[in-house]
Amino acid sequence: MSGPRSYRIASIPGDGIGIEVVAAAWEVLQAAAERSGKFTILKTNIPWGTEYYKEKGFYLPSDFQIILKQFDAVLFGAVGAPDVPDHISLWELLLKLRGPLQLYANVRPIRCFTKPRLDTDSSHFNWLLIRENSEGEYSGHGGCSHAGQDWEVATDTSIYTRHGIRRIMRFAFEAASKRPRKHLTVVTKSNALRHGLVLWDRIAVEVAPEFPSVTWDKELVDAMTIRMVQKPWTIDTVVGTNLHIDILSDLAAALAGSIGIASSANLDPERKNPSVFEPVHGSAFDIMGKGVANPIGAIWAAADMLAWLGEQEAADDIMQAISNVCKAQKVTADMGGQLNTKEAAAAICEALAEL
Ligand code: NAI
Ligand code: MG
Repeated sequence: MSGPRSYRIASIPGDGIGIEVVAAAWEVLQAAAERSGKFTILKTNIPWGTEYYKEKGFYLPSDFQIILKQFDAVLFGAVGAPDVPDHISLWELLLKLRGPLQLYANVRPIRCFTKPRLDTDSSHFNWLLIRENSEGEYSGHGGCSHAGQDWEVATDTSIYTRHGIRRIMRFAFEAASKRPRKHLTVVTKSNALRHGLVLWDRIAVEVAPEFPSVTWDKELVDAMTIRMVQKPWTIDTVVGTNLHIDILSDLAAALAGSIGIASSANLDPERKNPSVFEPVHGSAFDIMGKGVANPIGAIWAAADMLAWLGEQEAADDIMQAISNVCKAQKVTADMGGQLNTKEAAAAICEALAEL
């Protein structure tokens, strides 16, 4: 008989509370692996983040793709520091991973483990938001000229390709087809953005017949915010552009409880590169170093990572443990609890042991 399955994971905590929540996620990952006995995880710590940048002058070494290709997956924390402009830290670290590694599908599940913010049923929040993660508003095309003049100009050009839209649309229809409700909402703003987002609409119509089991509808992004608040039960799977789902997923996380619980999987569906799993939130300047960050987003991301690697049972167990601690209010202050980050992670490990 062969021994337990083994996974090599790169751990990139990054900055701020990213460091705190990734440490917490590792506690839970190791507990899940030990409990299962069917797999082991080999963790390699990678120090890429703002401290590294200040020392070396770059966020990522030039051979970062070669380094990362040695791993089965990456667990990432957050990037961003008060004394480095956000567009530098984000573009030099996280966005450099998403684009060049072709992590084109960003999957953001939403569930409500406690009382929702609004007066609705928590079961109404069982959504899967899918963000196009390689082009659109984040294509990186643009520039500035005439700096400091009255006629200074700045452009950020959105780029939408048939290839890019079709692959995310197929991914989204396929994801919807595997969910109980099998419904997809395609979010655009094709009334105003009459080229790229009209192409999105057209490709949705082209791809839909490949997935006859899925029902689908369209929504403009502004109307989608209303629907999320007023009719959350009509939503199942959602697909949209890089910027639109970035914004909608923060709203979704807040509606369902807290930004601190939301997780995000940057997937290479072709599995040529390691996928990157992270909490949705950033480095949270206002609470970093205080040890009070909610670790659930990072722990959920770790569970998603296990599922992606094929360890569905262990992933389900972590999600059950998260649900149980939330019911028992063994959570951090952002969710109305009294635990600090370490205690909240320990509570999840205990809940795991009690399953
Ligand atoms: P943020 O997500 O860091 O914080 C927004 C608000 O949510 C803050 O009040 C924060 O305290 C709270 N919050 C976030 N995570 C929490 C958690 N786990 N537990 C409890 N409360 C939590 O977003 P912000 O303030 O816009 O950005 C701060 C820095 O993070 C910037 O440098 C930004 O560029 C970066 N950022 C990085 C991301 C990433 O690495 N994926 C994503 C978002 C922002
Ligand atoms: Mg965001």
